[in-house]
Amino acid sequence: MNFREEYNKKLTLVEDALKRIMEGYSACPPTIYKAVKYSLFAGGKRIRPVLLLTAHEMVDGDIEESMDLACGLEMIHTYSLIHDDLPAMDDDDMRRGIPTNHKVFGEGIAVLAGDSLLNMAYEVFLKNSLRYPDKIMNHIRAVSIIANAAGVHGMIAGQVVDLEMEGKPAQPEILHYIHTHKTGAMIEASLKAGLALEDAEQRAYDAISEYGKRLGLAFQIVDDILDVTGDAESMGKTPKSDEARHKVTFASVYGLEESRRMAEQLVEEAVSQLDYFGNKADFLKEIAYYTLRRRV
Ligand code: IPE
Ligand code: IPE
Ligand code: MG
Ligand code: MG
Ligand code: MG
Repeated sequence: MNFREEYNKKLTLVEDALKRIMEGYSACPPTIYKAVKYSLFAGGKRIRPVLLLTAHEMVDGDIEESMDLACGLEMIHTYSLIHDDLPAMDDDDMRRGIPTNHKVFGEGIAVLAGDSLLNMAYEVFLKNSLRYPDKIMNHIRAVSIIANAAGVHGMIAGQVVDLEMEGKPAQPEILHYIHTHKTGAMIEASLKAGLALEDAEQRAYDAISEYGKRLGLAFQIVDDILDVTGDAESMGKTPKSDEARHKVTFASVYGLEESRRMAEQLVEEAVSQLDYFGNKADFLKEIAYYTLRRRV
């Protein structure tokens, strides 16, 4: 199977599982149901769930068991995007190729749509954990890895500093902190959560963490580059948004060429961490290269 086929196969499984999960919420007030589905099914890359499922497979897990975890992770990510786009944060008008949630439903409902997704994610996690009583500790560990990465020591920490640094002189260490937290934490967690479902060896954790840290940072560097070089049509977001908000980004601190070089080096380093897994890591290696050539 080639890379695209394998990726699309997992992506389709995630889409189907997310649809099934959302059907369980169809009795909630129509406005919030519509607003949640609007952003959740707007066509994201689903890279975090794909990473989680892949990591789980690499330690011989059955992805049926990790699917709800992968979906919850995507729900948390989608909530973070809805809130990230709000006027009080990045004030963006376009996301995943369509108007942002608050542009369509208003700010109040957009806040609540984000809250709903975050809440649903943990409902989904807990329900799924209860389906595996013999492995409940593994499931709790996996959920707690995700909760930690999404919270005030992870993604939220990065988002806080991202906001606080708007318009301020950029310092490389702070830039590194922002990117490893706002984006890196969730990417690393998706991989570690996949491993936590099985009793993976410490060396496996270490290898996947080192890979995830580098991939996560590279992923956000490319996001910064695309904000400068990309077009709305292919990205599905309004370009030059970072400059408009005076954000601290790799593009603004290091310039495009050096940022590109740094992302490439991080991906090479990421890939070289995976020796432990042998050829079971081939797909993860390809995901790393894919993040460099992506246009969306
Ligand atoms: C966008 O994430 C926000 C970042 C952390 C860079 P993605 O680039 O994964 O966006 P979607 O989910 O594919 O829309
Ligand atoms: C967002 O970073 C990271 C999140 C946790 C949502 P950005 O603000 O750069 O993401 P985009 O460019 O709006 O997708
Ligand atoms: Mg932002
Ligand atoms: Mg943003
Ligand atoms: Mg960005």
